[in-house]
Amino acid sequence: MSEVVLGVSGGIASYKAAELLRLFTESGHSVRVVPTAASLHFVGTATWEALSGKPAQSEVFEHVDEVAHVRIGQSADLVIVAPATANTLAKAAHGLADDLLTTTLLTARCPVMFAPAMHTEMWENAATQANVATLRERGCIVLEPAVGRLTGVDTGKGRLPAPEEIYTAALQVLEGRPQDLAGKHVVISAGGTREFLDPVRYLGNRSSGRQGYALAEAAVARGARVTVVAANVGLADPAGVDVLRVVSTEELRRQMHASAVDADAVIMAAAPADFRPAEFVDAKIKKTADHETPEIRLVENPDILVELVTARTSKRPVIVGFAAETGDAQATVIEHARAKLTRKGCDLLVVNDVSAGKAFGRDDNEAVLLGSDGTVEEIPLGPKIDLAHTVLDAVVQRMD
Ligand code: C5P
Repeated sequence: MSEVVLGVSGGIASYKAAELLRLFTESGHSVRVVPTAASLHFVGTATWEALSGKPAQSEVFEHVDEVAHVRIGQSADLVIVAPATANTLAKAAHGLADDLLTTTLLTARCPVMFAPAMHTEMWENAATQANVATLRERGCIVLEPAVGRLTGVDTGKGRLPAPEEIYTAALQVLEGRPQDLAGKHVVISAGGTREFLDPVRYLGNRSSGRQGYALAEAAVARGARVTVVAANVGLADPAGVDVLRVVSTEELRRQMHASAVDADAVIMAAAPADFRPAEFVDAKIKKTADHETPEIRLVENPDILVELVTARTSKRPVIVGFAAETGDAQATVIEHARAKLTRKGCDLLVVNDVSAGKAFGRDDNEAVLLGSDGTVEEIPLGPKIDLAHTVLDAVVQRMD
């Protein structure tokens, strides 16, 4: 099992690190906690030592005979700092080494992951953003903070992601995923859009958002900054991902265009409704005494994928589409998909055979990955996270 160093810096969210620690130890990982002096105002050494079964020191001048300031980092398989405060991020970005956590960060040869938590203003400050960019350029994984309730009554971006989600992201890194998306921005759409007929009724589809979320999780594990545009997804947000919520195809369209501006890869895993009602009725459509049924006229929605391909400028993101296909008398699933790939103009198309209700809402998936360069790769039935990594392998190959 792996040697994990859990750095805890001085934010109120440090109490959540105790839960994260338990998730690691209960699954058999050996964890050494390195709390900063400031964090001990929130959670004390006794908690860390009891839960980890190991000494938890903050300073380099304790137990000097062990040369802990060098040894802890050297022998780790993963260093994860959760919560990472603005101060600790700044020290890490500038290579300061004034306590055991910062010396550990300098000696670590393994993947290093930060889960920042702070007030929105501190997170958005240009200094913090520059430090985060520096750390990412050096190959560190910096999770995006979640949006939600902060200390006190305020809400905003800056919340520590849920311990379970940080743990899931950390496990992916421990599995040895290459950091081949470090410094890249990956934009992923997920879920299914809704088109409202009246204030209560809508046309929707069965997409759960699971595959899109698995892609986001996989991209984070490979070092990417990830934006997910989520249409009506009811799943827990993956850690370290910017989740932007939308409802209709038009909202998804606008958000995808805005997010794709600086993207290195765009993955359209969402199922946007192809049609929407021609009119939205302001009041709920009522049944009538003579049981007249309303006629619903539909109009076609724009194809966001095609628009994103057309809008590509000099910064040319790799664009991936998804296709749920069934074969018919005219052509096989793959023949239909190849024609779709040409029509859409994207670089890769993930083709799901949905003939027998496969793929929707399940944890596993199988697909064929078609490349615009003629490549065909069969992805066998397996967890959606494995499929996500195979798709990202193909994306990385096509970057630059
Ligand atoms: O044409 P079809 O809907 O089968 O294509 C599926 C692919 O196109 C998916 O990647 C989906 O996200 C995208 N799409 C889109 N805009 C639409 C419909 C589908 O971007 N209005």
